[in-house]
Amino acid sequence: MTAILEAKDIVKRFGGLVAVNRVSLTVNEGEIFGLIGPNGAGKTTFLNSIAGTFKPNAGVVRFLGRETTGFRSDVMCKLGMSRTFQISQPFPKLTALENVMVSAVFGNERGAVRDPEAWSRQMLDFVEFPMPPDTRADNLNTVQLKRLDLARALASKPKLLLLDELAAGLTTGELDDLMAIIRKIRDSGVTIVMVEHIMRVIMGLCDRIVVIHYGEKIAEGTPEEVAHDPKVAEAYLGEKYIL
Ligand SMILES: Nc1ncnc2c1ncn2[C@@H]1O[C@H](COP(=O)(O)OP(=O)(O)O)[C@@H](O)[C@H]1O
Ligand SMILES: [Mg+2]
Repeated sequence: MTAILEAKDIVKRFGGLVAVNRVSLTVNEGEIFGLIGPNGAGKTTFLNSIAGTFKPNAGVVRFLGRETTGFRSDVMCKLGMSRTFQISQPFPKLTALENVMVSAVFGNERGAVRDPEAWSRQMLDFVEFPMPPDTRADNLNTVQLKRLDLARALASKPKLLLLDELAAGLTTGELDDLMAIIRKIRDSGVTIVMVEHIMRVIMGLCDRIVVIHYGEKIAEGTPEEVAHDPKVAEAYLGEKYIL
């Protein structure tokens, strides 16, 4: 197994709050890797620390075999790490196609995508975008925006894709469709790290999971192993989703 991402002892503080406290994990090529934990546990902050949104206060990130600690997000994107955000933020006045093209043009090394429009249309097709490509982004509903987010993330040709609560707010039928697309992305050769709350998605998709609680890693293993870990059940007490 080859590691695509190695995070070692990542620390991120906001003033006196230690949002991520010495979290280490390794993601292998081809995996769908789950990052779970109660609200406020530090999951998004961890993603931000490895993807260049901000520098971690301590720790080491290795991506594709080289150290990338503290690299800016645009650099990480060009190296092959792309992501979606918990709250979708497209350019509202651009069309869906134009939104994807921004990523195709600026998310890749210059010249890497010869025909950004054709490539972007291909990405919209790949994620089964349900609307005409010339629909303005501010006319899209939640489900459509999630597909657009995926197409934008894929347009920069990632080797590793970080998904932050992509499934939130979807109905059961929509979840099944989204899960099928996530599998299709993995099968196309993209490794995936997903932060997710919805247990059906985690149990159905993830090869391995890390559980974070109060900024610390409290469990790691297959979905089956983690589901039976008493520390995990305890962390989730009082939350509406129980493993
Ligand atoms: N930019 C920020 N400034 C200050 N505190 C933050 C910031 N981002 C996150 N936090 C705090 O860090 C902790 C972890 O947040 P977050 O990573 O968003 O959790 P999760 O994604 O697991 O729900 C929370 O206590 C949150 O309030
Ligand atoms: Mg979050």
